[in-house]
Amino acid sequence: MKVFHNKSELSQLIDDFKTKNMLIGFVPTMGALHEGHLSLVEKALSENHVAVVSVFVNPTQFDNQEDLVKYPRTLETDIELLKTVSDDKIVVYAPAVEDVYGDDVKSQSFKFDGLENEMEGAFREGHFNGVGTIVKRLFEIVTPNRAYFGEKDFQQLQIIKKLVELHHIPVKVIGCPIHRAEDGLAMSSRNTRLTENHRKVAPFIYETLKSAKTKFGTKSAKNVTEWVEKQFKKQPLLELEYFIIADTDTLKPVKRKSTKKTYRAFVAVYAGDIRLIDNIALN
Ligand code: PAJ
Repeated sequence: MKVFHNKSELSQLIDDFKTKNMLIGFVPTMGALHEGHLSLVEKALSENHVAVVSVFVNPTQFDNQEDLVKYPRTLETDIELLKTVSDDKIVVYAPAVEDVYGDDVKSQSFKFDGLENEMEGAFREGHFNGVGTIVKRLFEIVTPNRAYFGEKDFQQLQIIKKLVELHHIPVKVIGCPIHRAEDGLAMSSRNTRLTENHRKVAPFIYETLKSAKTKFGTKSAKNVTEWVEKQFKKQPLLELEYFIIADTDTLKPVKRKSTKKTYRAFVAVYAGDIRLIDNIALN
């Protein structure tokens, strides 16, 4: 497996792929890889000749410095996991902060037609400016034909689609389904930091999302939201930050249901110090 820490070396290989007319699928990650990430890599390999996987804990998207410091960094294990998918068709780009940002570690400011103001945008200041900055930069370095993002971070996926549209970036953005542990908890690099007790109760999040989906068939968004808030109050180990039912396209909270629109429920929860997010399609 080829592992690059340096964008100029990576660029030479990318040029070589391009002269051979090879299609490049790109999977940006922050490492601490799990099966959710691997499912994106598998999809990328099924649709392209090679997959480039970036492993980079992007400092500008963290609104919480402690979260940035404690974010798991496990490059050696990540490489071993990627080898189980393919040894010769995956290229890893694991740069140092300077290789991407030089000595100017800050975000560009973006507008994404209002998508950036909802949910994660409202609760994590500057987060999507950081994500937009790094993903745009990585697209310029990797110049992929297709790029793969998980629906686990559904708002991020919508924002990247908007970034590509507004900035005319020649890449097709592909959304991939949420990969879950057997007990339903959405896989996340942060799950390894949960205490045993928090890990035990965490499947409650997806259980509640599934019940909310059933209820949304017959009840109003307000009604379902109140019900969910009540359920979390009964669960002392989990603290609900938000539960929002929103229009899939605009991500604006639903006021009145329309049969012509599709909706999704989004949730952010603290399990101790660890912030977990999840979402589900409602119709
Ligand atoms: P990270 O959290 O490492 O996630 C990398 C990609 O894997 C994202 O597209 C994310 O949605 C996807 N992913 C994570 N958990 C998943 C799961 N359980 N099922 C399916 N897909 C999953 O998202 C980021 O990194 C960063 O913001 C990044 C885009 C790399 C920019 O720094």
